[in-house]
Amino acid sequence: MNAPDISDPIRGLFDWLAAARERGEPDPQTATLATVDPAFAKPSVRTINVQIDEDALVFFVNAHTGKGQHLQWHPYVALCFFWHGLQQQITIEGVVEVLDADAADRLWAQRSRESQLTARSSEQHAVFGDPEAFRERREHERETYDFERVPRPEHWVAYRLLPTRLEFWAAGWHRLHSRRLFERAPNGGWQSTVQEP
Ligand SMILES: Cc1cc2nc3c(=O)[nH]c(=O)nc-3n(C[C@H](O)[C@H](O)[C@H](O)COP(=O)(O)O)c2cc1C
Repeated sequence: MNAPDISDPIRGLFDWLAAARERGEPDPQTATLATVDPAFAKPSVRTINVQIDEDALVFFVNAHTGKGQHLQWHPYVALCFFWHGLQQQITIEGVVEVLDADAADRLWAQRSRESQLTARSSEQHAVFGDPEAFRERREHERETYDFERVPRPEHWVAYRLLPTRLEFWAAGWHRLHSRRLFERAPNGGWQSTVQEP
């Protein structure tokens, strides 16, 4: 496959996501998120789900988790999508900003009630959480908000990713892979370089 012929990398990313979905990739919007622990300048990675909202990449974190803490102090991230069936990858570097409360509430409202109850009750930051205590907290939340809207907890924070660098990678025969790199230009547009076999 040739390198993607796209002039707008964000649109190109959405096209590749759509292609992955059409191909039936399991969890095409799952990506690996790297953050930096500023206290020790150490990298840290984990899987997250990425949503597209108003033409932006958005994800949610529990503010008490490692990444939640890192992003409060150091908003630079790297994100990597890999779609096995397509043999395509997109790596993104950029900076994140917190979505305002109205936008976060709107996205929170799209979650199922059960998922909201879990988010309110889970302690992702605890190294070994107590499952029994979790179930009790969840049951307590369920009773508290019986027949009511489940409110978004303050620690459930939505971030928007503003990419500054994207690299599209498509596997080719005999390791003749195609790559297309986009970097933010000083004028706010994109500079693009292609490597084709
Ligand atoms: C498929 C998958 C999707 C996940 N999605 C999210 C997510 O969207 N947000 C999130 O905070 N954690 C998500 N997690 C959990 C994180 O990978 C991680 O284990 C947890 O958030 C604590 O990470 P941290 O301490 O490194 O911040 C997901 C895990 C998996 C396996």
